[in-house]
Amino acid sequence: MKFFLDTANIDEIREANDTGLLDGVTTNPSLIKKAGRDFFEVITEIAALVDGPVSAETVAHDHETMLKEGLKCAKISDKIAVKVPLTIDGLKTCKALRAEGIMVNVTLCFSANQALLAAKAGASFISPFVGRHDDVGFNGMELIEDIRVIYDNYGFDTEILVASVRHPAHILESARIGADVATMPWDAMKKLFNHPLTTNGLAGFDKDWAATGFSIL
Ligand code: E4P
Repeated sequence: MKFFLDTANIDEIREANDTGLLDGVTTNPSLIKKAGRDFFEVITEIAALVDGPVSAETVAHDHETMLKEGLKCAKISDKIAVKVPLTIDGLKTCKALRAEGIMVNVTLCFSANQALLAAKAGASFISPFVGRHDDVGFNGMELIEDIRVIYDNYGFDTEILVASVRHPAHILESARIGADVATMPWDAMKKLFNHPLTTNGLAGFDKDWAATGFSIL
């Protein structure tokens, strides 16, 4: 499973990238606002830093303007995955951008039927929002299971990119179901490394090793 970082914060991206485990980055207008930096400047910097896809989100609602925005974003780097919303205009734009060979991430997906439409429009990635789905009383992970079954039934190659990830259990379930990607905050990714038995075990080995007086180097 690929790991994307869900942020426009360069320091966090640099830290995650240094682990050698980062496969891409997703951003959205709220994350750009939080970063407090110019959109094109920050997206260009992220694309130069990471190896994998970098999602840059369009903001227009009509197909014509959205397409212009998408084409402009795609010029930043061939790593750009243009993000479009799951609307009729968004999917028309998805199809047009894919015809130009540009990666597209269809965002704000909250149903398996919407995911089916995105795959038919040739999306490179579909972003179902599990956390926001949970927030309104649904089970976000059931949505991922349904999309996996549908995509496998028809051999769609659209990658399931689990978004709105809030905690390690979302990531574990995504991996169990066979999602292709999870995009997560740096805090959630860091938690994956931690286990109290690892911490305690290390402390025990440190103590015993110090008592031996040996040195490896
Ligand atoms: C990423 O592509 C999505 O925009 C993001 O994961 C949404 O996360 P949120 O629900 O925490 O805002």
